[in-house]
Amino acid sequence: MTTPIPTVAAKAPPMTYRPLGRCGTKVSAFSLGGWTTFGGSITDEALTRSVCHAAYDAGVNFFDLADVYARGECERHMGKVLRELPREKIVVSTKLFWPMSDDVNDRGLSRKHIVQSIDASLRRLGMDFVDVYFCHRYDPDTPLDETVRAMDDLVRAGKILYWGTSEWTGDQIRDAHRIADRRNAYGPQVEQPQLSLLVRTKVERDVAPAAKDAGMGLVVWSPLASGLLTGKYDDGVPAGSRLARIDWLRDQLRTDGRLARVRAFGKLADEIGVSRTRLALAWAASRPGVSSVILGATSLEQLHENLAAGSVKIDPALESRLDAIFSGDA
Ligand SMILES: NC(=O)c1ccc[n+]([C@@H]2O[C@H](COP(=O)([O-])OP(=O)(O)OC[C@H]3O[C@@H](n4cnc5c(N)ncnc54)[C@H](OP(=O)(O)O)[C@@H]3O)[C@@H](O)[C@H]2O)c1
Repeated sequence: MTTPIPTVAAKAPPMTYRPLGRCGTKVSAFSLGGWTTFGGSITDEALTRSVCHAAYDAGVNFFDLADVYARGECERHMGKVLRELPREKIVVSTKLFWPMSDDVNDRGLSRKHIVQSIDASLRRLGMDFVDVYFCHRYDPDTPLDETVRAMDDLVRAGKILYWGTSEWTGDQIRDAHRIADRRNAYGPQVEQPQLSLLVRTKVERDVAPAAKDAGMGLVVWSPLASGLLTGKYDDGVPAGSRLARIDWLRDQLRTDGRLARVRAFGKLADEIGVSRTRLALAWAASRPGVSSVILGATSLEQLHENLAAGSVKIDPALESRLDAIFSGDA
C-alpha cells in the first residue's frame, strides 16, 4: 500500500470567501501576492507553479500582482503560471503608478499612463482583462477627475472589471467617490492598505471608516511585516531571507522597538499554543472591513503554515491581549 503524498490542499482548513465590499464578486479570505518573490527572488517556474497551484487547490481564488514588481517580470512569470488555472475561477489584480522607465509620462495616474499601462500589463500577463486594477498610490500631479474617468473608461472597455486604490487616505477615497457619483462613473471598489499588528493606525483611524462608507472592501498587504511577525528575525537575519536581500526594508523594519513587541507576542503565542505566524494572519483577517489578507510565500511550507491561520479564532479576550502588546504603530 502506498502512502498518499500530503498536499497543502489536504492540510489547509476550508477557505472562506468574502465580498469585495459592496459588490457581487467574492474573494478568498487569504490570497497570494507576488511582491519581491515571483519573477524576482524566485525565477524557478516550477517553484512558482507549485506555490500558486497549491494555493488555488487550497481555495485561494485571488492573486495580486503589479506592473512594477520585478519591473514587469512578476506579471510575465506569475502570469504564465496563473494562465494554467481556470480564468473564470480566479480574481487577478495588477497595479500602476510607479515609474516603469525614465520617461516623464511612464508613471502616475494620467489618462495617458493608465491607458498605455493596462495594455502593457495585459500583454505581460497574457490575459484579456484583469479583475481589479489598482492605483498603486495617489497621484498629486494628476487631477483626480482625470484618473476616475480613465478608470471608468477601462471598465466600460472590458479591460478591467473593477478598479481600486492603494495607500490612499480616507479623504482621497471620499473625493474619488464624489467625482464618480457626479459623473455616473464607476468608483473604486477596493482599497489595498498595509495592515499588520505592527502597522495598523492609518487603517483603523482613517481608511477603514472611509472604505466602509463607500462600500469598498479592504485587501491588506504585508500582514506579517515582511516576515518579522513570524519571529524569524528575533535573533538575527537568516541568510536568504527577505530582510537579508533588501537592505532598506531591513533598516526600516528590524528596529529594537519592533523586535521587543514581536518577542512579547512570541510569549503570548507560546502560552496559547499557536504560532506567531498563524496568530498574526488570523488577527489581520479578523479586522473590520477586511475582504482578504494577501499572503507572501517563498515555499510550500510557508504557504501551508500561513493558510493554517484560517482555523485560528480571535476572541475578544485574545484581541485585548494583542492590543496590549501592539497598541499603535511601532
Ligand atoms: N499595495 C502595495 O503597496 C503593496 C506593498 C507590498 C505588498 N503588497 C502585496 O501584498 C502581498 C503580501 O505582502 P508581503 O509579501 O509583504 O507579505 P508578508 O506576509 O508580510 O511577508 C511575506 C514574506 O515573509 C516571509 N514569510 C512568509 N510566510 C512565512 C512563514 N510562514 N515563515 C517564515 N517566513 C515567512 C517570506 O519571505 P522570505 O522567505 O523571503 O524571508 C515572504 O515572502 C505582496 O505579495 C503584494 O501582492 C502590496
